[in-house]
Amino acid sequence: MSLGSPLTDENNSSAAFYFQGRHHMQTSWNHRYAQRTQRMAGSAIRELLKFTELPDVISFAGGLPAPELFPVAEIASATASVLSRMGSQALQYGATEGYTPLRELLAQQSGAPFVTANILITTGSQQALDLLGKIFINPGDRILVESPTYVGALQAMNAYGAEYVAIPSDDYGMITENLEEALHVGPKLIYVLPNFQNPSGVTLSLERRRQLLDLSRRYGVPIIEDDPYGQLRFEGDPLPSLLSLAAQDYPDDYQGNVIYLSTFSKTLAPGLRVAWVVAPAEVARKLVLAKQGADLHTASLNQILVHEIARTDFLDRHVPLIRQVYRERRDLMVTELAAHLPPGVRWTYPQGGLFLWVTLPEGLDAAATLQAAIAQKVAFVPGAAFFPCGGGANTLRLNFSNANPVQISQGIARLGRVIYEQIDELAHV
Ligand SMILES: Cc1ncc(COP(=O)(O)O)c(C=O)c1O
Repeated sequence: MSLGSPLTDENNSSAAFYFQGRHHMQTSWNHRYAQRTQRMAGSAIRELLKFTELPDVISFAGGLPAPELFPVAEIASATASVLSRMGSQALQYGATEGYTPLRELLAQQSGAPFVTANILITTGSQQALDLLGKIFINPGDRILVESPTYVGALQAMNAYGAEYVAIPSDDYGMITENLEEALHVGPKLIYVLPNFQNPSGVTLSLERRRQLLDLSRRYGVPIIEDDPYGQLRFEGDPLPSLLSLAAQDYPDDYQGNVIYLSTFSKTLAPGLRVAWVVAPAEVARKLVLAKQGADLHTASLNQILVHEIARTDFLDRHVPLIRQVYRERRDLMVTELAAHLPPGVRWTYPQGGLFLWVTLPEGLDAAATLQAAIAQKVAFVPGAAFFPCGGGANTLRLNFSNANPVQISQGIARLGRVIYEQIDELAHV
């Protein structure tokens, strides 16, 4: 019997071999992967970040919530109650759109005239980003992003062949004053994180929110508003979401330009993987088709559990607790930065969220600083990965939610020493 033309790996002519008298071809996986996987390369930084998991390293690298705030007892009792009352539904397949009472609740809580047809439950907002890529992005499509931006969104969109137009940002978010020119290149979508942005921690000002929406309407370019942190505001008045501004024009049937993502990952627990999308009904339907091929639906038990908790006033009591702890950690980190970092280093002052953003003096390379920092048992994420079109070599992201106060004080003191040494080395080159 002919096996057809052999798929040998040019670099491995011994790939074919005989096993128990039968002709076997050892698969050359590299020749089998789809082209899109070429954009899925791991990075040297990711390799370095593995060291951050060693027990004596103080890591400000991850984006993890404080685990001691997870409402374990609440989730345990809600699980017991759900399983005893409606175990067969919670363990059964469910609708791709999500658990209807949870969608109804989210529609009600949105404060705008959204209906269940506008709401899709996703397996984390990360899945929503992937599904949006799947339904909107053809290879070569340009996506307009703030720079720096969330690296997980770049990962999701890279797989669909996205190209990027990077819009610089400052302390008030994406610099919308420069946007019109970028819109002339005909981007497919705008992706923006208006509240306590990951990685920079900055918040898009109200004026810029209005300007962005206005430009989106004039040029007919939809906005993906990614908002995992909006609930975690430590001070100041909340600003209206782009979604709520867009919805003002549609009192009955939302047909606006904004597709909104949020998640229970930061207010309840990320391990539940329950998030949601608000979109015009026709976009939500298209996302449902994309989700069917991905995972059929988000875990029924987790959705029912989240509904069980979110329909009570538990989150009204729990989220303020998270805000208080994170505010204290932000304050401590900022105080320690001021005490330990050399002059010429700048950082943002986020009014919420999980991250702050440090800019080192020009000429320093945060990737090299990380290498030195790991030797001193402290870690962060170098900023360059958050810039899809290059730049940001002298920037880094610090997470302040996950480390406890003692770790924050010790870790920032270590970081200060490392940066002093790096500046010293630079001066002697
Ligand atoms: C901006 C942004 N979008 C989306 C996500 C993904 O969140 P989820 O846990 O809901 O998948 C994160 C997680 O850190 C994030 O920072």
